[in-house]
Amino acid sequence: MILTDFMDSAHARLETLFNQYLTKSPSPAKTLQEALAYSTLNGGKRIRPLLVYLTGKTFDAAWENLDVPACAIEFIHVYSLIHDDLPAMDNSDLRRGKASCHKKFNEAIAILAGDALQPLAFEIIAEHPAALSPAQRLRMIKILSEMSGLKGMAAGQMLDMEGTHTLDALTKMYGLKTGALLKASVQLGAIAANISDENILDSLQIFAENLGLAFQIQDDLLDVECETHLTGKPTGNDKTNQKTTYPSLLGVQKSRQHVEKLFSSAIHSLDFLGEKNKLLRDFALLLMQRKK
Ligand code: IPE
Ligand code: IPE
Ligand code: MG
Ligand code: MG
Ligand code: MG
Repeated sequence: MILTDFMDSAHARLETLFNQYLTKSPSPAKTLQEALAYSTLNGGKRIRPLLVYLTGKTFDAAWENLDVPACAIEFIHVYSLIHDDLPAMDNSDLRRGKASCHKKFNEAIAILAGDALQPLAFEIIAEHPAALSPAQRLRMIKILSEMSGLKGMAAGQMLDMEGTHTLDALTKMYGLKTGALLKASVQLGAIAANISDENILDSLQIFAENLGLAFQIQDDLLDVECETHLTGKPTGNDKTNQKTTYPSLLGVQKSRQHVEKLFSSAIHSLDFLGEKNKLLRDFALLLMQRKK
């Protein structure tokens, strides 16, 4: 399957699933449910779920076994964005071209929306209706919890809040705040395909690490160079928040070159797949060109 068709199919599946999980099953707290749906169903790029599908399909997993982990990782990601935008964090009023959750609703609701989205990710894996074994689901829950918590995304967000001032520290922080969820995505896809070979899993980790770092540096570059109407979030926010970023430390030109190097390392780490590298390689090449 060529990548654009693949992505169309994955996007269509995700929209159906998000609707099913967020709008169809009733909650006693209607406004909270609205906030979850508002922040999730609003046109993100869906990079992380796409990585679940692409990795899974590289190893011939069934679509049905990829749906739930794909949704789960996006729920964790959306929760991280809702909290990231709060006044106590990045204080950002615009997300995905619309009012941030705390602006559309209020801060308490935005905090609770994150609180509710996070466990929903684990709930749907635990209740997975398809053919995943309990052992596979447990592995998924372990990866997802590890990569989103104290050793993963939340740790990265903490280091971001504390402020990092050297390239080394910044690189480590990006690996956590952004890289961890991308690593989780490829692992989830591999687990759904029943991959347990450590060499394969390690190579996929290296792929995701390089991709994650490149992705975050691109995000920094977009914050400097791009228009709000394209990114859907306020540009110049890093400067306003006095964040140290790759462009602020290295300059735009060197940051761009580094992004290219990272993408090329990511693609190289797929060499072990031979001709089966196509889906993930083409996706990395597509991300390399991203303008939002
Ligand atoms: C934004 O992620 C936060 C980062 C880790 C850079 P995305 O750029 O994937 O945001 P959406 O999901 O497409 O809105
Ligand atoms: C990544 O960093 C945020 C998360 C891990 C949620 P940013 O703070 O740079 O992300 P944006 O630019 O607000 O999307
Ligand atoms: Mg942030
Ligand atoms: Mg932010
Ligand atoms: Mg940013």
